[in-house]
Amino acid sequence: MLSQKVQDALNEQMKNEFFSGYLYLAMAAYCEAEDLPGFGSFFRVQAMEELTHADKIYRYICEAGGRARMAAVPEPKNDYASLTEVFQYGLEHERKVTGMINRLTDLAMAESDHATRIFLQWFVTEQVEEEANFSAWLAKVRRVEGDGRGLLMLDQEAGQRTFTPPPAGQ
Ligand code: FEO
Repeated sequence: MLSQKVQDALNEQMKNEFFSGYLYLAMAAYCEAEDLPGFGSFFRVQAMEELTHADKIYRYICEAGGRARMAAVPEPKNDYASLTEVFQYGLEHERKVTGMINRLTDLAMAESDHATRIFLQWFVTEQVEEEANFSAWLAKVRRVEGDGRGLLMLDQEAGQRTFTPPPAGQ
C-alpha cells in the first residue's frame, strides 16, 4: 500500500517522465527543421524511451493499489541556438531528473516503503546511463562544430539509434 505522500511523488515523477518525452520531441523537431534527420530520429527514440519510463511508473502505481493521475505537462523548450545547445540542455535535464529520482528514493526510505525503494533502483541505474549517453554525445557534437562534413557523418551515426521496447511486463 502506498502512502499518500509516496503516491503523489510517484504521480509527479510519472508526469516528469512524460515531460521528458515532450522535451525530446521538441528537440527532434528542432533537428528535423535544421536538416539533421538522423538527430531527429535519435531524439524521437529518446522520447519513446521516456514514455516507457512513464508507463513503468503508471503500472507500478496501479499494481501497488494506488491511483495514477495525469497532470498538465508544461511546454518544453522548442528553440535552440545550435545542436551543441540541444545536447547541453539535454544533459542538464537528465541531471535534474537524477536529482528527482534521488529525492523520490529518499522519500520512499523515509516512509519505510521498501517496495517502492526497490522499484526505483531501476531508475537510479538508468539515470547513470542517461547522463553518460548525453555526455558522450555532447563531446562528439562539440568535436564537429563548424565542420559540415563531420556533422553529416555524425547525423548518420545518430540516425542508427533504434528503439527497443521493454520486454512484456517490464
Ligand atoms: Fe526518464 Fe531520461 O530519464
